[in-house]
Amino acid sequence: MQITLETKPFATLETDALVSYVFEDADPVQGRIAEVDQLTGGLLRKLAGSGELTGKPLEMTLVHAPRGLKAARLLLVGAGKQEKFDAAVLRRIAGAALRYIKSRSVKQFAFVLRENEPVEAATQAVAEGALAANFESDKYKTDKKDAKSLDSIALTGFSDQDRVAAEKGLARGRVIADAQNFARDLVNEPSNILTPRVLGEKAAAMAKEAGLYVDILDEKRIADLKMGALLSVAQGSVEPPRMMVLTYTPANPKTGAPVIGLIGKAVTFDTGGISIKPSDGMEKMKYDMAGGATMLGVMRALAALKPNVKVICVVPSTENMPGGHAQKPGDIQTAMSGKTIEVLNTDAEGRLILADGIYYAKQLGATHLIDAATLTGAIVVALSNINVGVFGSDQPFTDKLLASAKAAGEKMWQMPIDDDYREFIKGTVADIQNIGSGKGGGAITGAMFIKEFTGDSPWIHLDIAGTAWNDDAKPWLAKGPTGVALRTLIHLVMSY
Ligand code: BES
Ligand code: ZN
Ligand code: ZN
Repeated sequence: MQITLETKPFATLETDALVSYVFEDADPVQGRIAEVDQLTGGLLRKLAGSGELTGKPLEMTLVHAPRGLKAARLLLVGAGKQEKFDAAVLRRIAGAALRYIKSRSVKQFAFVLRENEPVEAATQAVAEGALAANFESDKYKTDKKDAKSLDSIALTGFSDQDRVAAEKGLARGRVIADAQNFARDLVNEPSNILTPRVLGEKAAAMAKEAGLYVDILDEKRIADLKMGALLSVAQGSVEPPRMMVLTYTPANPKTGAPVIGLIGKAVTFDTGGISIKPSDGMEKMKYDMAGGATMLGVMRALAALKPNVKVICVVPSTENMPGGHAQKPGDIQTAMSGKTIEVLNTDAEGRLILADGIYYAKQLGATHLIDAATLTGAIVVALSNINVGVFGSDQPFTDKLLASAKAAGEKMWQMPIDDDYREFIKGTVADIQNIGSGKGGGAITGAMFIKEFTGDSPWIHLDIAGTAWNDDAKPWLAKGPTGVALRTLIHLVMSY
């Protein structure tokens, strides 16, 4: 889908649909919308007066053949209260407008930014929202005759003077949304197609194209490096594991500067292993590699955005299967760090593979660690599918991430990891155990386990089990993978 920039007066635009947004509080017919009202002979005033146009969040008001405009349709999207309006709201408006228009088989529309918008940030938000909204999970449908698609969007509502800013925002928005959709494509792939080997090949191909350094460790090198925690999960499957390393190095690296380590869980299918999961809903466990996909997407975007900081991405990948060689509850494993682990539940496998991923990232020189993982069902109980669970060992670093989440429009909520929780993972016969002995607090237990491998490096853990997959379509996003955390992490890295 093409996105163009247009500075002609919107009244003269020949488009299939002219789209803008109205606010809920005060009079919805003001500013640029008042101009539209005048051109249409007071149509919007009438709609507002009759209560049809209110500006309530994501309300859709569609007018066909509006008189006084060259556009075939006029769509006004509710923007909610003005005081709550920000780039995150604008992103959703653009996404919801796109999906609404696309579902009506319209091929093209023009999106009018309202007066007083900061042009660069606004064009970025609209591009991100629209391109993410345009993503559909229909790759494996052979009959696409009913599939709808859009050809192009024109972005308008800014002056010629602001064209450079608009171009910048559009370019950055496209890089980020393309990376997000790249990650979502990976998550959608079923486990019979996307094995750890295939994920490794895809990561290598992406890295080469993007110009990133890449090293895909196979099962032999993983064994040579004594990554016993990753191997313990992989041993139950006939598919060999992979440890992927992608590195971005800035043009002028500063000595002593932080090196960011991004570690993503990529279990291409989680049956639970011998502690097998119930069959109901198990098909969803193909998305247990979403953390890894997010990190690969982040690296893809960083290669284009060129931040001023070095970033090392490590993605441990395996299946979790109950094969004849599978590890069994009670088995004791030695992680790469040398710590011994009692595996009391083979379904708590994400923390095992992250243990070696994090330790390896540190060995490669990462000073600041961030992991993303579909780690626990418990985070879904705590935060539902609305907020990402954030766990951090260093408050200034965590605050920086939370600020980036806010700026990127991704909801994240900090959870506690006080020392008192350490009791939960103390082992009986080994150093630590992979499930908690305490009551509840399952998501925290998972975080405490991972923390054991971070040493004294500042570290953040993102539990995305509840937020990486939309069970139902949203007005601005299709059902399925969301690519959550990617925008936040890109924003965070770019802020260095
Ligand atoms: N991949 C799951 C977590 C998960 C659950 C992701 C639901 C997405 C949706 C993880 O490997 C797992 O099975 N965790 C266990 C941990 C437990 C055994 C301590 C869980 O949450 O039940
Ligand atoms: Zn599991
Ligand atoms: Zn899992």
